[in-house]
Amino acid sequence: MNLYQPMPMRVERVINETSDLTLKSFELTFENKTDQKAFFEKYNPGQFCQFSVFGKGEAPFGIASAAWEGPFVRFTVQNVGSLTQTIHNLQPGDLVGVRGPLGNGFPLDKLKGRNLVIIGGGCAFSTLYALTKHIMYKEHRKDYGQLTIVYGARNSGLCLYKADIESWYDRSDMVIHQAIDVPEEGWDHHVGYVPDVVKKVAPAPKNTSAIVCGPPIMTKFTLPILSELGFPPKEIYTSLEKRMKCGVGKCGRCNIGSKYVCKDGPVFTLAELNDLPQDI
Ligand code: FES
Repeated sequence: MNLYQPMPMRVERVINETSDLTLKSFELTFENKTDQKAFFEKYNPGQFCQFSVFGKGEAPFGIASAAWEGPFVRFTVQNVGSLTQTIHNLQPGDLVGVRGPLGNGFPLDKLKGRNLVIIGGGCAFSTLYALTKHIMYKEHRKDYGQLTIVYGARNSGLCLYKADIESWYDRSDMVIHQAIDVPEEGWDHHVGYVPDVVKKVAPAPKNTSAIVCGPPIMTKFTLPILSELGFPPKEIYTSLEKRMKCGVGKCGRCNIGSKYVCKDGPVFTLAELNDLPQDI
């Protein structure tokens, strides 16, 4: 696999995730079986890919599907600029380029045998969705302890992956805390910001790891709450977003001190982040 060369992939399905149409998921399939095999041999939830529209540009997106869902790979893309607008215009059958999977992903082996608290907000929840789907898979579920999800969106129309998340409420092996910022008629889950919900539901730290991905402001206020609850820094994981170009540790665009977000991350423990220059 040449990580500098985009693999050709075909858009199979486009899903409108939110009522304001700013978030869409794209399920892509490989044009070539060798690429597909190489991708799934290496893929771990928490990794990302460089997604390119030929002649328009390339940008990194977290992978939003678990390997067992394959052969497609899902990306959830927020429309925030000209390249993402171009991506949002893609239709089933269109050909795009993908480099990856890149980065380290979540440490699945280290998390085995532990309870997990997965905390997310906004479109950064996409890689946590992939992680949750990985854990919930019948052959993987026994490897992990109790699973608690805290997921927030600004309003109910912006909640991602609605059908799956609704179905998770029926499961006895996980606890879901969904939140929106302000009250809405018909909403019977939490109301409030994610850090406040974490404080309210106060997950116990014993034999538990916390994994946090969301907008920087959400992460900034959630990490100290987890520390107050007694989670040690080495058991708090978060994923960083940085301007990336090469995605493979060569261009120097994404470094923080001695670490490259694209290669050493994007997943770091709070203990690792505490040792880095505080310009993140
Ligand atoms: S994106 Fe080039 S070094 Fe990380």
